[in-house]
Amino acid sequence: MVFTLPSQTTTPLEPLGFSVPSKEYLVKQFVGKKLKDCRTPRLVVDRSVVKRNCEHIAAVGAKSGKKIRVHIKTHKTIEATEIQLDSAKTDAIVVSTLAEAYYVINSHLVSSGKLKDVLFGFPVSPDRFDDVYHLSTKVEKFCIFIDHDQTLDALEAYCQQRFGEGGAPKLNVYMKVECGNERAGAAINNDDSVNLARRLTTSPLLNVVGLYTHAGHSYASRDTNAAVNFLKSERDAALAYKKFLADNGVLFENISIGATPTVMAAGLVDSSELEGITELHAGSFVLNDRQQLATQLLDESGLAVTVLCRVASRYPERGSFLMDGGALGFSKDPAPQGGFGDIVGKPHWKLNKLAQEHSIVTEVPLEEFKHVNVGDVFRIVPNHCCLTAACYEFFLIIEENGDEVVDIWVPVRGW
Ligand SMILES: Cc1ncc(COP(=O)(O)O)c(C=O)c1O
Repeated sequence: MVFTLPSQTTTPLEPLGFSVPSKEYLVKQFVGKKLKDCRTPRLVVDRSVVKRNCEHIAAVGAKSGKKIRVHIKTHKTIEATEIQLDSAKTDAIVVSTLAEAYYVINSHLVSSGKLKDVLFGFPVSPDRFDDVYHLSTKVEKFCIFIDHDQTLDALEAYCQQRFGEGGAPKLNVYMKVECGNERAGAAINNDDSVNLARRLTTSPLLNVVGLYTHAGHSYASRDTNAAVNFLKSERDAALAYKKFLADNGVLFENISIGATPTVMAAGLVDSSELEGITELHAGSFVLNDRQQLATQLLDESGLAVTVLCRVASRYPERGSFLMDGGALGFSKDPAPQGGFGDIVGKPHWKLNKLAQEHSIVTEVPLEEFKHVNVGDVFRIVPNHCCLTAACYEFFLIIEENGDEVVDIWVPVRGW
């Protein structure tokens, strides 16, 4: 098919074309301050927990004998990416936006040799090819996802127009395949998928890296057994996919599987259970949250993120009080435990209601209510670390559950 190319859109080309708050300025403002003296709502990240969470994933990689690829979408910062690379012992990441790719590729992480392999983990649309080819020149290996042959039609049309016959440099590509998550990925037992796989592996424009699955549905795990079952079914789906293609004459070597629950589960099984899998990828494990707690694959010591909120008013007649935060401080993502967060040290209080800027805490026993005053600050464990972190233009960093700011991390936003 001859594809009519859309115009190219641009992510912030170098230097970043949209503003990222100045870390230098924020460090001067905040480092050394007590959390209670900071404007709320704010996202607080415990750097020592981030490091330990990454060390745990490195141990999973070592035990299973698999390469680890870490997702950076949870935090979108250079600092946490560096901890992930150092402590999870890898040089490979996944990004969910091209803005994230620009941010880390333009940082010292590439020039220092720590970051070598960047996967844009979202099926690429044809308006972004300019950015993809540009980024491919900036890091040792830049990979994309393709899961539909229209994308390949578009890529061929783009390369013909931009580079002429035979002139295009090769792009690294993973074929994204469906493993039960039903979000992105080409279907198994389908002629179109075989056709796509054949075109990918024979295209002069591409270097095929492997198959990639993402088990987002494993967030439904409510205990370690369930997570291990999700891991096994993701493994089986990926291996069945490889066999399905091989039976149709198309050979793929590498298989990357993962999501935080299935990679945590990979640490619980014998390495023989992962035969045929070459890479494990995960992201949320860096910060963790109530959704991850609900899987029972970790305990509170793995929680690296809280939202700092301040009491703005109190309503004793309703047994409730009002804090800042709101939907713009937490997101409205649910968790199996119900409500929007756990108030640290107050497990029986409920954060059940959010409006744009309002957080309503209810079910506070009268005896305890007497001690809640306007201006008090609380820390709340959010439901979903990725969406909550995305609410903030910078993060307050602490160490070992301390109450003093030791650094500021600035995430990149936008697409
Ligand atoms: C393509 C891809 N890979 C890996 C991950 C990491 O998953 P998790 O955050 O569950 O570890 C995600 C998360 O959405 C993803 O979209």
